[in-house]
Amino acid sequence: MLEEKKELLRVEHLKKYFTTPKGTLHAVDDVNFSIRAGETLGVVGESGCGKSTMGRAILRLHEPTAGKVYFEGNDILGYNKKQLKELRKDMQIIFQDPFASLNPRMTVSEAIIEPLLVQGIYKSSERAAIISRVDEIMNLVGLAKRLVNTYPHELDGGRRQRIGIARALAVNPKFIVCDEPVSALDVSIQAQILNLMQDLQEELNLTYMFITHDLSVVRHFSNNIVVMYLGQMVECAPAKTLFKNPLHPYTKALLSAIPVPDPDFKMERIPLKGELTSPINPDPGCRFAKRCPYATEACTSREMTLMELEPEHFVSCRMIQEQR
Ligand SMILES: Nc1ncnc2c1ncn2[C@@H]1O[C@H](COP(=O)(O)OP(=O)(O)O)[C@@H](O)[C@H]1O
Ligand code: SF4
Ligand SMILES: [Mg+2]
Repeated sequence: MLEEKKELLRVEHLKKYFTTPKGTLHAVDDVNFSIRAGETLGVVGESGCGKSTMGRAILRLHEPTAGKVYFEGNDILGYNKKQLKELRKDMQIIFQDPFASLNPRMTVSEAIIEPLLVQGIYKSSERAAIISRVDEIMNLVGLAKRLVNTYPHELDGGRRQRIGIARALAVNPKFIVCDEPVSALDVSIQAQILNLMQDLQEELNLTYMFITHDLSVVRHFSNNIVVMYLGQMVECAPAKTLFKNPLHPYTKALLSAIPVPDPDFKMERIPLKGELTSPINPDPGCRFAKRCPYATEACTSREMTLMELEPEHFVSCRMIQEQR
């Protein structure tokens, strides 16, 4: 019998609000999910829906406004500075734009050495061990040895992102927030980086939260997918279920934007109309109502809740919930 995978991360009622001159911006508003060790949770939604803020709040790069984050069963929002520093070894992040996240004055080896020293994995006097570890990590992420003394501007986007991945991997993490790691790359390079990340996951038993605005990127990669809209989860399901039987009108609209290779595949097409607003002092009710072709008054008169309509398939839409 297959051994049941253990839960690594659990997020409960997570909120991150920002105070802005126009009011309180509900960037992440009551998000709940868990990720099992060795699996990938895909997080999708349009730009501005709160994906990066959620990733940062989970890592405590932003202090959450409310909620709980459990890592290996421990409530990490109660961690002090020292405990947080230790936690950084387990929880890492890969950023969208490696050019922006890399120091232009650091060579490849310096960029990889930095987290090793900051996290106290080696002392700067342990030169031989550091050189050997840099060599090992460069090999792991497919960076040729000859690039060890090059600078980010001398490298293409794919190689720069390999440095970003190397920096995250240097400390031997268990969990990585991958914040649109291929969105800034040429399409031809995207597949190489995705393949590398998949290989690394298998080899190192990594757990990913993979953020993207492009559903097709996480299709074959994720075990489960969360769809976000203006700070809230609107649907969450195993990846296969979500693609086969999307239920929320917003998920259907996102899927409508993906070209379908199978001409027999029939799915209700919902074009995404209108602009994405921002969740400042949001009205009660469904935040998608302004763009939803099925919206009625009932959709805006009360708060939506995420309901499990099929095993492991959660949806937050009044219409779909009432049809069941
Ligand atoms: N530091 C901040 N201060 C105020 N508002 C912010 C801040 N960071 C993000 N936001 C707002 O929070 C919302 C979610 O942003 P973000 O998490 O970057 O979305 P995504 O990653 O999905 O594109 C947006 O409306 C954005 O303008
Ligand atoms: S709750 Fe209403 S407005 Fe929101 S997605 Fe469902 S039908 Fe559309
Ligand atoms: Mg983002």
